[in-house]
Amino acid sequence: MFESKNKYFGRKKGKSFARLEHLQDKLLLPSTSIFKNIKTPRVLEIGIGDGEKISEDAKNNPQTNFIGCDIFADGVLRAIRNSIDNKLKNLLVFHLNIQDILPFIPNNYFNGIRVFFPDPWPKNRHKKRRTFNALLVEDLSKKLKKKGFIHFATDHSDYFLEALILMNQFNYIIKDIGPDSWKYNEFNALNTKFEKKALDKNHKLFYFSVLKNY
Ligand SMILES: C[S@@+](CC[C@H](N)C(=O)[O-])C[C@H]1O[C@@H](n2cnc3c(N)ncnc32)[C@H](O)[C@@H]1O
Repeated sequence: MFESKNKYFGRKKGKSFARLEHLQDKLLLPSTSIFKNIKTPRVLEIGIGDGEKISEDAKNNPQTNFIGCDIFADGVLRAIRNSIDNKLKNLLVFHLNIQDILPFIPNNYFNGIRVFFPDPWPKNRHKKRRTFNALLVEDLSKKLKKKGFIHFATDHSDYFLEALILMNQFNYIIKDIGPDSWKYNEFNALNTKFEKKALDKNHKLFYFSVLKNY
């Protein structure tokens, strides 16, 4: 079995695992040949959660190839089930930490990268566990095409600021960021599980979309 070298991030199972377990034999391990065979445009989603958002987007955008990953088994297996049920040819998901997939991905590969409501690790002593950190952004920036986008959403203001500062440090083009740059409405709703949870708790949502400038 593949064992991640990345600390902090064990692979997890949830309540629906028993219902999805039979799909485990459909899980793939990353390889350079898998990624070479996927046509552009390609969008990466890190931390697909329950797997519903990436499945829905793959269904509604058949011309775009979606690649997702999560260390949480249930969502990855659910995305595989959705992919089989809807005969999707444009969805590939891995039950892995993002850092375990990136070495197999060519440079200048993705048209876009999405990180929606990453685990906030709100306590100061845990912040170093945040997935969207300088190390990851450095790696992602190599894999993103010129003018490729990063979409980021969180309900934690300090994570939002930390991520924006990183975007600035890595020379991303940041347009129109201000208190009104992200207002929740039906048109721009992400409709992910964690966006809904944040809305239920009346949390403020923070969102940015930036472009790679090099
Ligand atoms: C708070 S949830 C958000 C899920 C989903 N994006 C949403 O908005 O509902 C964060 C997800 O990121 C996953 N995750 C955390 N660290 C990760 C990593 N290094 N690589 C891949 N997934 C990761 C977690 O297992 C979890 O499912």
